Amino acid sequence: MSKDTNSGSGKMWGGRFSEGTAASVEAFSASIHYDVRLYKYDIAGSKAHATMLSANGVLGADELQAIVDGLSAIEKEIDAGQFEFKRELEDVHMNIEKALIDRIGPAGAKLHSGRSRNDQVAVDFKMYLRDQCDSIVELLDAVRSAFVVVARKYLGQVMPGYTHMQRAQPVQIAHHMLAYYEMFSRDRERMLDCRKRLNLSPLGCAAMAGSGLPLDRAMTAKALDFAGVTANSMDTSGDRDYAIEFLSTCTMVQLHLSRLSEELVLWSSQEFDFVNISDTFCTGSSIMPQKKNPDIPELIRGKSGRVVGSLMTLLTIVKGLPLTYNRDLQETQEPVYDAVDTVSASLSIMAELLGHMTFNTDKMAEATQSGCMTATDLADYLVLKNVPFREAHGIVGRAVAFCLQNGRELPDLTLEELSQFSDIIEKDVYKVLSIEGSVNSRLTAGGTGLLRVEEALVVAEKELGI
Ligand code: ARG
Repeated sequence: MSKDTNSGSGKMWGGRFSEGTAASVEAFSASIHYDVRLYKYDIAGSKAHATMLSANGVLGADELQAIVDGLSAIEKEIDAGQFEFKRELEDVHMNIEKALIDRIGPAGAKLHSGRSRNDQVAVDFKMYLRDQCDSIVELLDAVRSAFVVVARKYLGQVMPGYTHMQRAQPVQIAHHMLAYYEMFSRDRERMLDCRKRLNLSPLGCAAMAGSGLPLDRAMTAKALDFAGVTANSMDTSGDRDYAIEFLSTCTMVQLHLSRLSEELVLWSSQEFDFVNISDTFCTGSSIMPQKKNPDIPELIRGKSGRVVGSLMTLLTIVKGLPLTYNRDLQETQEPVYDAVDTVSASLSIMAELLGHMTFNTDKMAEATQSGCMTATDLADYLVLKNVPFREAHGIVGRAVAFCLQNGRELPDLTLEELSQFSDIIEKDVYKVLSIEGSVNSRLTAGGTGLLRVEEALVVAEKELGI
């Protein structure tokens, strides 16, 4: 590159400066230690930009060739870990551009024509996030499949369903598993929706007002596989909505993982003893030899703090930021990278863990035998015999109180005992008082009856192609 572009501070932007940058400022403002993640996208974006410049007469064919070859060589060097990134060059964009200029000379110095780092970082970041959406969708599918496998394995087995963490009504284990399948299916949709909205190219918006050079934005958008171009250059330059949307989707995924983790922690306690997580997925205590701890779900639960924190960080950065680009926006990258790493690792280990746990079905079934869990069924029975529901609720409440006082359960009461509470109760009541009868009577759409759960399972298996 010519010396006078470099004058003063020795920076690529140094022309108007008469003094060099303070070392402390270089250290404080550099982003190369994290935006290095973007190098492949940065190179692809530069190639597309150069190709478009050449098609529009800004670059000669030989210049384009030199740029494309130079960028490919740089990419190989970075791939091989042989590229030396320099902090004084601030970020991934400047490091690559400077290396290109050093390598090919004046043609390299033409690459940045009609481009700003503002649209450059936006196009890189969007391409990165697009790939992350795809990769997280794949991981979500692995978790969804794992749930379906578990649901199929335990189809027909029962456990208590809880509200307020109190035994409420008996349900199928498979129904509980498929509840998570639904959550992660919604997350998948959200991720694809986020991808769709972010998939418009910022390239060609330049600093923020567009460019006076003959740039063909549709051409670069197409080359980079975007569905189109963004509509307003000022909006584009300062926009990080897509990163916030991505993080809020990641947060939802991690919250779902965290709720599941909480249940696995509870269920693996001696108090519940519903699940056994295999030794390979647990850890021991450094002092208590008897311990086997569910550290993996605990860590996933704990890591939700990081993801929620990342979302909060971006919301706070963008709040009150005037149009258009402000350097504050550089701070939106690291939390996104941390969230990507956290959510991806959590999904991946959860998919594995689900294949390394076994439910203690005897214990789960046994837990449905106490707590008068078929009380609602008795009330429904009365409703079908024309008793107003509120009255039925009172009758059953008194029957439950009787059970509690006498250490009994509803299905064990004799017909004589039951008749004390309502003379409408007849012998056929026992059909609804049993756990199996209760579960399988719940045939409303989305209910826990065997028929409904089997149907839901078949739909899920079809969706996943398993
Ligand atoms: N590293 C910067 C970022 O991540 C790139 C854009 C810098 N633009 C500027 N005019 N200083 O946002």
